[in-house]
Amino acid sequence: MGRASDGTGVSMSGGPIFRLDGKVAFISGAGSGMGAGIASMMARQGARVIVNDLVPERAEETTASILREDGQAVAAAFDITSLTAVRDTCEKLARDNGGIDILVNNAGNAGGSQFVPTPFADMRPEDWDAFLSVNMRGVLNCTHALLPGMRDRGWGRIVTISSDAGRIAAVPGVSVYGAAKAGAAHFMRHIALETAEYGVTANTLCLGHLNTIGEPYASEIVRQIPCGRLGTPEDVASAALFLASQEASWITGATLAVNGGYPAI
Ligand SMILES: NC(=O)c1ccc[n+]([C@@H]2O[C@H](COP(=O)([O-])OP(=O)(O)OC[C@H]3O[C@@H](n4cnc5c(N)ncnc54)[C@H](O)[C@@H]3O)[C@@H](O)[C@H]2O)c1
Repeated sequence: MGRASDGTGVSMSGGPIFRLDGKVAFISGAGSGMGAGIASMMARQGARVIVNDLVPERAEETTASILREDGQAVAAAFDITSLTAVRDTCEKLARDNGGIDILVNNAGNAGGSQFVPTPFADMRPEDWDAFLSVNMRGVLNCTHALLPGMRDRGWGRIVTISSDAGRIAAVPGVSVYGAAKAGAAHFMRHIALETAEYGVTANTLCLGHLNTIGEPYASEIVRQIPCGRLGTPEDVASAALFLASQEASWITGATLAVNGGYPAI
């Protein structure tokens, strides 16, 4: 274990920026939505991408689309809420791929149709874990599995996909989800503190309203977004790519809102 190998920061010599050539990126929940967008963009920037998802067909689909574009990708279907599955599989993936440099903690459960906003007083305790397990424990599991390798190699990037629900309380009915997302973001700040000297950064993106929202809500919400539109996988992927790049080596412990300016506070 040594001190940071990227202490020189960013080269001022010009040329392409935000490239990930030679890097290996593990992206949880990359079989659909934002994760698929992040995987595709990182692959286009030269990374070898490990496409995780709970649903094997989804992981295969994202992988196939990256391979069709001549990118490098491998599917890895498993449940990130299982510490055993994460530990065993990540160990093998790291061995097979010469180490994993970038972790994107993307898997979560805000986007699916199964998400029904419910006031906390009306929630059953047995429903809490659906939010705590993937949005909080999954982040701990993946970080636990991949951080030691990054620290040993003296370079690493951890990007956690959180939510505005974890930054502010603006929408009722998402308290447990919001608490888990806030926990994940705050965990990143501590990880940033503990790992900066080893060249590993840890940052969070808090996503706002995305184009996964259907009508009639979408039109109403768009009116409240200063940028005038819902967010896309490309918006999220661009921010994740930046934080994963060499160019962002002096940014750690940060929480970046990716929300089109809503709410503007
Ligand atoms: N969509 C939104 O409006 C929104 C807003 C704010 C934050 N977010 C966050 O952004 C991230 C991506 O959301 P999305 O909209 O793309 O969701 P999505 O439902 O489209 O994709 C999430 C993917 O994660 C996978 N997944 C779920 N649980 C998993 C597990 N235990 N192990 C491995 N994979 C698992 C799912 O199969 C799915 O393919 C999530 O963390 C979500 O909480 C989304």
